[in-house]
Amino acid sequence: MKPFLFVTDLDHTFVGHDEALVELSQLLIQHRQAYGTKIVYATGRSPALYRELQVEKNLLTPDALVLSVGTEIYLDGGEISDPAWSEILAPGWDRELVVSITQRYPELELQPDSEQRPFKVSFFLQQSAAGDILPQIETELQKYELKIKLIYSSGIDLDIVPLTSDKGQAMQFLRQKWKFAAEQTVVCGDSGNDIALFAVGNERGIIVGNARPELLQWHNEYPANYRYLAQDLCAGGILEGLKYFGFLE
Ligand code: GLC
Ligand code: MG
Repeated sequence: MKPFLFVTDLDHTFVGHDEALVELSQLLIQHRQAYGTKIVYATGRSPALYRELQVEKNLLTPDALVLSVGTEIYLDGGEISDPAWSEILAPGWDRELVVSITQRYPELELQPDSEQRPFKVSFFLQQSAAGDILPQIETELQKYELKIKLIYSSGIDLDIVPLTSDKGQAMQFLRQKWKFAAEQTVVCGDSGNDIALFAVGNERGIIVGNARPELLQWHNEYPANYRYLAQDLCAGGILEGLKYFGFLE
């Protein structure tokens, strides 16, 4: 067996099916010990909300953490987001300006303070309003020459982040740093903010069986033979996919 780079979303992907999570975690830990496989969590959660989940589900310690939808990368258990990554995100980003422009839209409700991050402004936005309002906000922000991107997930979460940032670009940063080929990299997800993981290159992809309509719709529009749509839910679907691609026996 060869080492691989394992990158997974947490909520409703790695986490959500407790028995399968125990089995998958054991296999990943063994693979890491035996072959040098690397494990990365890529989540929308902030450090505070990540720690809550980590304790609640006793998550295994990863080799790197991609938090706040890819805007923060933590290596080797460190407390400070990788400065080389922050340098890539900073040009064309102006947090205060994003906040002040978005105040004009009453449909946007700010998420809790813990989820407002240096390179991420997050709101709740109802699905019924999203179709109309998202293009308007994007156009408005671009008028100010902000280099930003809107990421809408799960019919409720809106993240505004630097254009150079998302889970996919953060994953590529780690893949290149650790020198894993795209063929030896596998990414797993269930919702809108995971599309970037699947779309950025030709890494192997596992879409779990409980995936959200926004991800399934994207997958149907852009099918690829290096992407696997699992039957089983959450970690069960990941196990299925890792066997399908031959990363696990
Ligand atoms: C997590 C974060 C939230 C974000 C969402 C989607 O739930 O806590 O801030 O909007 O992921 O990326
Ligand atoms: Mg998820």
